[in-house]
Amino acid sequence: MKICRTKAELRDAVQGFRAQNETIGLVPTMGYLHEGHMTLVRTAKAQTNRVIITIFVNPTQFGDPSDLDAYPRDEARDFALLKAEGVDAVFAPAVEEMYDPSAQTVVETEQLANMLMGALRPDHYKGVCTIVAKLFNIAQADKAFFGEKDYQQLLVIKTMVRDLDMPIEAIGVPTVREIDGLAMSSRNVRLSPEDRQAALILNKALAYGDYEASDGREAADLENDIRAFIAREPRATVQSVDVRDAASLEVPTGQITAPVVILLAATFGDVLLIDQRVCDPN
Ligand code: PAJ
Repeated sequence: MKICRTKAELRDAVQGFRAQNETIGLVPTMGYLHEGHMTLVRTAKAQTNRVIITIFVNPTQFGDPSDLDAYPRDEARDFALLKAEGVDAVFAPAVEEMYDPSAQTVVETEQLANMLMGALRPDHYKGVCTIVAKLFNIAQADKAFFGEKDYQQLLVIKTMVRDLDMPIEAIGVPTVREIDGLAMSSRNVRLSPEDRQAALILNKALAYGDYEASDGREAADLENDIRAFIAREPRATVQSVDVRDAASLEVPTGQITAPVVILLAATFGDVLLIDQRVCDPN
């Protein structure tokens, strides 16, 4: 497994793969890897000849500097996991390698980036799109893999690829969960044991919402019911509950007839967790 710290090193590795006519899969991450990330890696391995994973805690997508500082990191463990999985190259650059101090170009999906999580975290998706576009340009991969857990992020990236004719396919991979249903996240380690238990309410609320969605409901009523369901867990502070069209993230009008996605965000202590589920009412 080749460890690349600079863009030049990664470009060299990519040239080597290309010279042998191999297809390349890219898995962008911020590290502190768990089974969710490893499932993306395995999906990439199954679909392409060579797999590149990137580990970069991207400062431009964090609003709050203390959230950036608190982001967990363990590079040695990550590298060992990736080596065992048979990854071909890891790109783990320093911040200075990725951002020129005089950089002035950004990529933004106008509507999608500013609704939902984007409204709560201004500039977040602009930071995501810009770093992902840069990684796409450096890695020159055929396919890139992203988790459905970050549903809005996946749609934002697919939209960027479509709108800018990027020569890459962005592929969504279903959310990987702990045995008890909690969506895997690098943030889960920051939960106290009580909050870790309380956080199970999110997946339960999604199952409840899925059941209710197939009942000819209207989105706003469903959102209220899901809020009330989560409120039964006193350790949870709901940040947002949204039932949106699964393809456009627009607010559905009238009774739900087409697939919707339920998007949840809640804090447990100071840890923000998100989860999602696509529901087909038919
Ligand atoms: P990060 O949070 O490290 O996630 C990296 C990838 O793993 C994302 O595509 C995310 O959706 C996916 N992922 C996380 N938890 C998952 C789970 N439980 N099941 C399936 N996939 C999961 O998302 C980012 O990093 C960054 O925003 C990034 C795209 C790397 C840009 O900086």
